[in-house]
Amino acid sequence: MNVCRFIYPMFVLNGLCMAQENFFKDSSIYEDLVKAETIYNSADSLFARKNHQSDIFSTSSNKINLKMEENNIECGIIPDHCSNTIYRSYDGSCNNLKNPTWGTPNTPYNRLLPPKYSDGIKDPPLSKSGKPLPLARSISLLLYPDVPVEDHIFTLNLMQYGQIITHDLSMTTGSSQTQHYKNRCCSEDGQLLDLAEVPAHCYPMIIPHDDPAHSHDNTRCMSFDRTVTNKDRNCASRHYTAEQLTSVNHYLDLSFIYGNDDETNHQLREFKGGRLRADTRKGHQWPPRAANASATCRLNKPKDACYFAGDTRINQNPQLALLHVILLREHNRIADTLSKLNPHWEDEILFQESRKINIGQHQHITYYEWLPYFIGEENAVKTKIIWKTDGFVNDYNEYVDATVLNEHSTGALRQFHSLIVGRLHLIEENRYSKGTVRFSDVLRRPQILEEKHGLDNLIRGLTTQLQSAFDQFHDSEVTQFLFRNDNETFGVDLKAFDIQRSRDHGIASYNDYRELWKIPRAKKFEDFLDFISLENVEKLTKLYESPDDVDLVVGGSLEKNLPGALVGPTFLGIIVEASYRTRVGDRFWFENEGPNGFNLEQLQEIRKSSISRLLCDNGNNIEKMQPRGFERLSFSNPLLTCHSLPAVDLSLWKEGYNFKLYG
Ligand code: HEM
Repeated sequence: MNVCRFIYPMFVLNGLCMAQENFFKDSSIYEDLVKAETIYNSADSLFARKNHQSDIFSTSSNKINLKMEENNIECGIIPDHCSNTIYRSYDGSCNNLKNPTWGTPNTPYNRLLPPKYSDGIKDPPLSKSGKPLPLARSISLLLYPDVPVEDHIFTLNLMQYGQIITHDLSMTTGSSQTQHYKNRCCSEDGQLLDLAEVPAHCYPMIIPHDDPAHSHDNTRCMSFDRTVTNKDRNCASRHYTAEQLTSVNHYLDLSFIYGNDDETNHQLREFKGGRLRADTRKGHQWPPRAANASATCRLNKPKDACYFAGDTRINQNPQLALLHVILLREHNRIADTLSKLNPHWEDEILFQESRKINIGQHQHITYYEWLPYFIGEENAVKTKIIWKTDGFVNDYNEYVDATVLNEHSTGALRQFHSLIVGRLHLIEENRYSKGTVRFSDVLRRPQILEEKHGLDNLIRGLTTQLQSAFDQFHDSEVTQFLFRNDNETFGVDLKAFDIQRSRDHGIASYNDYRELWKIPRAKKFEDFLDFISLENVEKLTKLYESPDDVDLVVGGSLEKNLPGALVGPTFLGIIVEASYRTRVGDRFWFENEGPNGFNLEQLQEIRKSSISRLLCDNGNNIEKMQPRGFERLSFSNPLLTCHSLPAVDLSLWKEGYNFKLYG
């Protein structure tokens, strides 16, 4: 069998077969590819055989089960009725009064383009010729090596706030995103399972024989669970194709702090003074302890920290947990202040008003501080993502569905994984480094925050250390070592996961999205040269058979950044469209006028909020911070004392002549 001809007929024509054969050193890769293809082509029958009994496909909510019994075929939970309250629900229901389930948990992502499943319904795509696409891991190895290039301007904080935003917006149903269950879809010794044994929800990643990390112990299989879809849950009423479900609500509403349903919210509240529950240790507040800490976190000592929050991913990495801590403390800081200003307010009012302010600040920081760095401020204004105004922004549109776009969360946003750095600096008040920690050592180990000066050193690390540049290079801590256990040398590959996930979701190809944004469709690989470098186009030519096969996450990530932006045109289009929908489709957006919103004076105060002040106010003892906390220290962005940074004046929430509840 001529492997080269079978897998990459083009290379034979181009005389490039040698290079390719070096990359996939032996022909058993062919057998694996054929095997993989057979697995996924027969997925239908596997699903039928397994009768949807797998753990991860069982519904997490009784209500959903009930709905299924009643043969109610919409995904998510349909509220009995919408009372027009002035506060958001936790699950996002009734945000849109015409379509009350829009944006609620356990509903499908939206799409800009129809999915491209190989069977037209749910099987991952194949190449145009019908052969398997190149291995996700091989693409990762060739195109996304670890070349340490620091950003010139932006701190690690820009990356980290990005992750918290994405956790606010979506979470694929069916995977934890905090650890890797390697035996779910592969054999115990890391081999592909026999076809009959492959669980229905699996789409394992094949590891090439010459893999620099995994060939040493002959691991050939990386476990991968497919995202749960509306078809798996029998709630695919409107869709012919499988649509992936997201398990959190779709709004930018700090759901990772407040929970995505009433029950979780109940567990998170103190029900006194409007406060969130917090454990106090050494005079500081920390999120409550996770119920099953030893399974959730990697504990060195039984009492090590392991947190419970509105989002199950809180313990994934310490800087993510850090932002959880900060936003929890911010809630309680606001609640305590409001309670002094309005002693007659009961717990519920204090809680909801504090939540509303906290969300307003978060929306402001996300749209006015964070987003413009990625899409360019001018662009953001031109595309009505942000407004240069002192007044309200009254463009809520009930016909705009804020449901998260699959292309956004399974495509464009994931490119920001390239910003992650593999060594976290612990920085003292004088901004000298006290040392570093290795990223893969501290995953699922939030205890580091509670060690001496841990939280503050990491806050200063976030705002002092530079993030990795927005480019194709990825730190090996996430491509070779992610989620490795203490007794393991290697872990999983996040970039390969991103590619595999986009295929799992049937995301249309890079060429399709070029066409969507009126960028000429490439007929031959060289046509990609308009936005992709020659070196990368050559690599794409080595990997893929046809320009139509190039995955969105791959093509988009290789585009040169547009002037003033940190992304190329294809991802820019997706991010702009998604950001517009998130804002304009949110009836409770902080800049909207009306009973749900702030009065004008309060809105102007919310607009003073900043990431720097947020960190200052809620660290243990941060004394100084630069005004623009996503940017490095410089002459124009020097360290200032925290109290000299603009702050939101909460006295405007004192009920009286200028401010009355409910309008
Ligand atoms: C700080 C280090 C980070 C780690 C360790 C990390 C890890 C992960 C993991 C394990 C997944 C799930 C992969 C899969 O199974 O498909 C994921 C998904 C994702 N990540 Fe990250 N990530 C990080 C930072 C970021 C950043 C900075 C962004 C964007 C600004 C981001 C955006 C996303 C998005 C959009 C998803 C999909 C969310 C969904 O489930 O809908 N991540 N990440």
